[in-house]
Amino acid sequence: MKILITGGCGFIGSSLAIFLKEKIKTAQITSIDNLSRKGSTLNKNRITENKISNIKKDISNFSSIKKLKKFDLVIHCAAEPAIEASRKKIEEVFNSNLLGTFNILKKCAKDNSNIIYLSSSRVYSIENLYKLKKKGTVKENFNINNPKSIYGFTKLSSELLIKEYAYLHKIKYLINRVALVSGPWQFGKEEQGFVSLWLWRHLNNLKLNYIGFGGTGKQVRDVLHIEDLCELVLLQIQKIKKINNKLFNVGGGKKNSINLLQLTKLSQNITRNKIKIGRVKKTSSYDVPYFISDLNYVKKLYKWEPRRNLKKVVADIYFWMLDNNSILKKYFL
Ligand SMILES: NC(=O)c1ccc[n+]([C@@H]2O[C@H](COP(=O)([O-])OP(=O)(O)OC[C@H]3O[C@@H](n4cnc5c(N)ncnc54)[C@H](O)[C@@H]3O)[C@@H](O)[C@H]2O)c1
Repeated sequence: MKILITGGCGFIGSSLAIFLKEKIKTAQITSIDNLSRKGSTLNKNRITENKISNIKKDISNFSSIKKLKKFDLVIHCAAEPAIEASRKKIEEVFNSNLLGTFNILKKCAKDNSNIIYLSSSRVYSIENLYKLKKKGTVKENFNINNPKSIYGFTKLSSELLIKEYAYLHKIKYLINRVALVSGPWQFGKEEQGFVSLWLWRHLNNLKLNYIGFGGTGKQVRDVLHIEDLCELVLLQIQKIKKINNKLFNVGGGKKNSINLLQLTKLSQNITRNKIKIGRVKKTSSYDVPYFISDLNYVKKLYKWEPRRNLKKVVADIYFWMLDNNSILKKYFL
């Protein structure tokens, strides 16, 4: 089976590439990545060590894509994943996240390749998320009509394009609306990947801030361990003939939800460091105070559920950082 992973030098793409290569013996995996994300060169080395090659090209340029060989399956991970970037670098986000998907789909249609898309929980409307009651979870039929950030717009528009292409060209698709994923080899920053950022700052005695919602650190997210996501995508590939043309919410779920204060405690316990954490009352209009995925649909279809808890996420990141502290210094702030 020939598999193309776009964004194969990113956190999720590289982890999937290595995992799938080991689990599917017949898989020939190739990555396409322009190495624009800080840290992607390190992930490139990691996939290369696993005999997976990367083609350094930009997916927003169709001429880079149309020359690629034929693949049976595309796992489309390449994107600018930070919501804040879509306020500040709107053209770049639009081109990578939406034009990029369009180009990938033209290639899929030509080759009759199936596609698994890493969408986002940020396709849901901000004002409706604000109204979500504490302890509530977000199902696939939650409101997507009101504004959701330009990032969320590019992800939702990509989903719609995928459905159009699947209808017209009879290719099979799966869409994973992924919440927060974390684990080793994620180069977290304030606006994206905060679990790894939190651990890095604790480990190295650097400063952090609780940003937004009064600076109380009480905003909540559900967190999925990268290995749980890899296991789900493997099941999706194995079952794609039977289960296809569907979309799912994918995250850590209620059991793996956490607020920043609790994350600080876990980080203090494992690093044995207590750092200064400031309070910034206001946040971006794209931020939301609370998100927990409802996993019932994906659980039912694949008999899958997250097996790794938050302590395991934190421990795995911590030991990865300890082992690689000096190399990682260049890539974390
Ligand atoms: N990590 C999460 O918590 C999370 C949550 C929801 C959705 N997602 C989605 O999952 C996917 C992967 O996220 P990630 O966390 O691995 O991000 P990442 O930034 O680590 O990986 C994305 C990769 O895509 C590459 N890339 C970006 N623009 C490109 C372009 N125009 N052409 C070629 N390569 C390009 C980057 O260099 C990077 O290596 C993204 O589509 C993101 O929207 C991630």
